[in-house]
Amino acid sequence: MQTVGVIGAGQMGSGISQVVAQAGMKVLLSDVDIALAEKAKDGIGKAFAKLVSREKLTPDEADAAFARIVPVADYAPMADAQLIIEAATEREEVKRRIFESAGKVLAATAILASNTSSIPITRMATSSPDPARFIGLHFFNPVPVMGLIEVIPGLATAKDTVSRTRAFADALGKQIVQTEDEPGFVVNRILLPMINEAVFVLGQGTANIADIDKGCRIGLNHPMGPLELADFVGLDTCLDIVKVLYNTTGDSKYRPAPLLMKYVEAGWLGRKSGRGFYDYSGDVPVPTR
Ligand code: 3HC
Repeated sequence: MQTVGVIGAGQMGSGISQVVAQAGMKVLLSDVDIALAEKAKDGIGKAFAKLVSREKLTPDEADAAFARIVPVADYAPMADAQLIIEAATEREEVKRRIFESAGKVLAATAILASNTSSIPITRMATSSPDPARFIGLHFFNPVPVMGLIEVIPGLATAKDTVSRTRAFADALGKQIVQTEDEPGFVVNRILLPMINEAVFVLGQGTANIADIDKGCRIGLNHPMGPLELADFVGLDTCLDIVKVLYNTTGDSKYRPAPLLMKYVEAGWLGRKSGRGFYDYSGDVPVPTR
């Protein structure tokens, strides 16, 4: 691939743009407003500066990768892309609108991929111009650090689309797990019930936030406890994924924890809103319960 379109300039879209540019490909980055794509590019510039200061990138490499990221106001320039990756909010109707619009400019052999964390690929493929060239490409946060990509073919995805997508993931230096198109795929199917259960444990007063996280950090050797990780991922995103698991399977074991719903209703979405299970207003995160 030489040119990749990235739709959505949030945490995931920024991370994806960074690693794609570092792998030598041109990135066309878009969001609802070009100012958001430009702001994301500034943030990626800061990440490059940090990598240069730690001697992980040379200044020339950083400048070249930075120049390869081009914020765009609409999808028209993505007609030149061999791959378009959607990394928008985890709402099916939003993603479907994007596939319909981006589908209008998608080149005849180009692939349309979704970074969805849980929504069925086969179902969303019906909003793309060619389901044979539609696929799931699930990155993990923070994208530049996490070594895994899940590749999820839908029912109609062509073999050639799978092999080209795998070659792209390889070119980014990531490990691949290819999964069937089942709700939550592999990693989120396992992770989100754990996070949701941690919120039940908190809601039932079994332990406080600090101890739930300490238990998993030390007792399981996880880099972050489940509530810290929920704040990191975003509580709205966590709830969206749990709802997909619950609604698509109808299995009551996936019912969202009431406290998780309450936090999202309060706008306490984790790190990005300044408060979730922890308060991020000071120098160090402080547990709120
Ligand atoms: N961009 C680039 N590099 C970053 C980074 C970022 N945003 N954040 C951290 N790093 C790098 C640091 O530079 C550092 O590099 P070095 O070891 O070469 O010096 C390294 O990562 C470690 O960072 P820190 O020392 O600052 O911090 P920690 O050691 O506390 O690690 C962490 C931070 C990597 C985020 C670690 O806590 C972690 O692995 N947490 C779990 C993350 C996780 O589980 N992610 C998956 C979430 S689920 C998901 O994404 C799926 C979605 O669908 C919900």
